[in-house]
Amino acid sequence: MTTTTEVSDQYLINVKFPTRVQRTERVLEVAEAFGIGLDDKDFVVFEDLNLQIKRGDVVYITGQSGAGKSVLLRELTRQMQERGLKTAVLDETLLEPIPLIDQIGDSTKKGLEYMATTGINDAYLYIRKPGELSDGQRYRFRLSKAIETGADVWVADEFLAVLDRTTAKAIAFAVQKAARRVGATVLVATTHADLRDDLGPDLIVSKRFREKLKVEVIEEAISRLDSSPMTREELNQRILDLS
Ligand SMILES: Nc1ncnc2c1ncn2[C@@H]1O[C@H](COP(=O)(O)OP(=O)(O)OP(=O)(O)O)[C@@H](O)[C@H]1O
Ligand SMILES: [Mg+2]
Repeated sequence: MTTTTEVSDQYLINVKFPTRVQRTERVLEVAEAFGIGLDDKDFVVFEDLNLQIKRGDVVYITGQSGAGKSVLLRELTRQMQERGLKTAVLDETLLEPIPLIDQIGDSTKKGLEYMATTGINDAYLYIRKPGELSDGQRYRFRLSKAIETGADVWVADEFLAVLDRTTAKAIAFAVQKAARRVGATVLVATTHADLRDDLGPDLIVSKRFREKLKVEVIEEAISRLDSSPMTREELNQRILDLS
């Protein structure tokens, strides 16, 4: 008989950094002139933040620069790994300078299947090398590789940050769709707050500065995707058009 151990879905986040000002001559001058203290203090980024992240949830971390998005993403990844979950960092998926079809799946058929899950359906793309793809195509190929690893959690910092926003939205849609198909949990962080409709997150963490933190739990996240301004079919077509 096999037993499955349930991994707890509660995460407690506490992150602070000790700050120690280097006491140079000029620093002391500034401190004196402006009347600021130089005591060592802890810089608290997260204090007792409780998050419930269920298996297969899509988590959208957003907020301004320096607010703590990367810190939160790293901490969640660390805690998930500690619980034995296998994580895949989407942007670190290693791509080799050989044709796509030669570096995915243990057979041609399997490789084609993995690529199809992210909308790479073009024979001319199969035989190209990663360096010959557009940013969006390359991202989708990375995604296919992430699916192949069978990871429980897909992690992406600066998620789609460098892409034009139309492509970013289409790929955000593709990512959540692929993840939901295989039951993977998705953790993404970006300062862009425009991916909500396409990512259909189950949880949104918006962080501004220390005290300003909003956690939204979206019930029925998947069915809400259906009521987004664009139908799934239109979005799918848009993804394919990007090739
Ligand atoms: N190792 C560290 N030591 C001290 N402070 C740190 C350290 N790492 C991060 N911080 C501080 O924690 C805060 C959050 O940093 P974080 O990298 O998570 O920001 P972010 O929201 O990802 O910003 P960005 O959008 O610019 O990537 C920042 O104010 C940063 O200065
Ligand atoms: Mg960051």
